Amino acid sequence: DAPIRVALLGAGTVGSQTARLLVEQADELEARVGRRMELVGIATLDPVEAPWIDQSIVTNDAAELATRADIVIELIGGIEPARTFILKAIDNGASVVTANKALLAKCGPEIYAAAREHGVDIYFEAAVGGAIPIVRPLRESMVGDRINRIMGIVNGTTNYILDEMTTKGLDFDEVLKAAQDAGFAEANPTADIDGFDAASKAAIMACLAFHRDVRIDDVHVEGIRNITAADIAAAKALHRVIKLLAVVKQNDKDEISAGVYPVMLPETHQLAKVGGSFNAVFVEGEASDDLMFYGRGAGGAPTASAVVGDVVTEARHRVHSTVGPDIPLYSNAPILDAADD
Ligand code: HSE
Repeated sequence: DAPIRVALLGAGTVGSQTARLLVEQADELEARVGRRMELVGIATLDPVEAPWIDQSIVTNDAAELATRADIVIELIGGIEPARTFILKAIDNGASVVTANKALLAKCGPEIYAAAREHGVDIYFEAAVGGAIPIVRPLRESMVGDRINRIMGIVNGTTNYILDEMTTKGLDFDEVLKAAQDAGFAEANPTADIDGFDAASKAAIMACLAFHRDVRIDDVHVEGIRNITAADIAAAKALHRVIKLLAVVKQNDKDEISAGVYPVMLPETHQLAKVGGSFNAVFVEGEASDDLMFYGRGAGGAPTASAVVGDVVTEARHRVHSTVGPDIPLYSNAPILDAADD
């Protein structure tokens, strides 16, 4: 059988790690999918060098690459040209995997409609919470429940900055620089600091949770630019910590709202304990009650893990002509005796 052709658009922090996982784990992924997946091209405008990147498949023509794959991974970010490339891929019968929260929060519903019309799927687990499974739980596992509220720490950069200011008494600017050096701040950190990155994620979560068309313009946004060391100290004196939260909620009249703003949380709250660049999403369901999802919400490899999970899911659908959760493929490798382990 012909391999599943996978195209990668964008080779930045997440793109490069996505290529690594696809190449280094090719054999394991083949066993899980039931067919080989072949990375047929990497589109990037900047040179990209890494041991796992085959330079012969690197191209600067993303539009052309988007038309010769079964699965197109979009990790360019921003609205254009990412939107055009995604629509081109869909038009060509490819399914799309993207981490592009800004695009989905601005024109997700149009893209979903295009995918539906062409009978392909679009996956975006990596768009919210990096490695944390939160999109699929909201989209699938919890779709039978009524969700009342979601409160999330969904921006690693701002959580890191607030945490460092709180625990080490450092200044805002010096911590921001460290976040950028660590690779989880956006190239333009304004989107992080002023809350727009979290607002995109709030819009995406609100769509999934409430089955409504919620866009970034519907989200009230306040960032952390004006939080001072004095604010942090005042919160501390009250046994509280300042966290930037994305809050989306639905009242008993089915009215919804979405916002991103700094909140003084009691030190004992579950979300207050989320340190560093970690993310956490607290979901309150009517029947399911409270759930908490926690993990690495930013960074190359963690975010790439969610991207590759989506790629494998779609590849399985293509190979086995199934939709929805997959029937697993298991190997017969021996199992250790736990007593000897
Ligand atoms: N800049 C984002 C963050 C990356 O800091 O969380 C993940 O979207």
